[in-house]
Amino acid sequence: MKTFGKDYAEYYDVFYHDKDYAAECDFLEKIFQKYSGGVKTILDLGCGTGGHAIELGKRDYEVAGVDMSSAMIDTARNKLKNYKDIDIKFHVSRMEDVALPDKFDAVICMFNAINYVTSDDGLKKTLCNVHNHLSKDGLFIFDFRNGITSLRSYSPVRIKWMNYKDRRILRISETKLDAMEQLYHTTYSCLTFKDRQIIQEFYDKHVVRYMFPREVRCFLQRCNFEVNFMCPFMDLDVPANENDWNITAISNVIKE
Ligand SMILES: C[S@@+](CC[C@H](N)C(=O)[O-])C[C@H]1O[C@@H](n2cnc3c(N)ncnc32)[C@H](O)[C@@H]1O
Repeated sequence: MKTFGKDYAEYYDVFYHDKDYAAECDFLEKIFQKYSGGVKTILDLGCGTGGHAIELGKRDYEVAGVDMSSAMIDTARNKLKNYKDIDIKFHVSRMEDVALPDKFDAVICMFNAINYVTSDDGLKKTLCNVHNHLSKDGLFIFDFRNGITSLRSYSPVRIKWMNYKDRRILRISETKLDAMEQLYHTTYSCLTFKDRQIIQEFYDKHVVRYMFPREVRCFLQRCNFEVNFMCPFMDLDVPANENDWNITAISNVIKE
């Protein structure tokens, strides 16, 4: 079963139509202002269909996007065609392996994309890569699924109905927790209806690793990052606490 395969990528923006990428980019800009001497260039890791990359491009940042899913990148490239004056290079690569020739003022990795890197080795490789792609004093910003809340409760089954053009889409998420490995295994079963008839059926499998705040701090410090702040996603005014589902980590690269 695929992860962010062609069908899932086609409907990704429908599944998450309520996500406010403009407000999320306002949040990112607040972080840039507070924790950086100036951000002009940004690398978006796990950029998906380009929600942040394109919005930041509209705001005159120079942006590059990387995602392991060629289907998600295809969607991002297609969306970008609507903005003739924005130039964003989208690359298909795993964040563990990406090797671009450029350095960036900030690397972002949003909507829990880092949680898809499930092994310790993969995480270390990813952080090394982020380090290599950042200029001196560069900022690394990512949000992650908090292990504390992930262990306390989760929804084994979730059902979501969405409308899209002349169709209705049903997405059933079935999740199993593997607490020893800190993993959630989710299967998305999706049905598309037109005139009450099923016209499409597809599945997508996601394995994500939730992380504990101390664990995140430890990984970052070992990979030569200075952790500035951890806050609830979208709220820079208070420190993260154990009840936050989604935590944003803000760190600066330490370079000799
Ligand atoms: C939840 S989506 C978030 C997409 C985007 N950042 C957003 O906010 O809409 C996670 C994205 O991470 C990508 N991804 C997962 N594992 C990856 C990896 N190892 N390297 C690069 N991209 C990865 C997936 O293909 C997917 O597009």
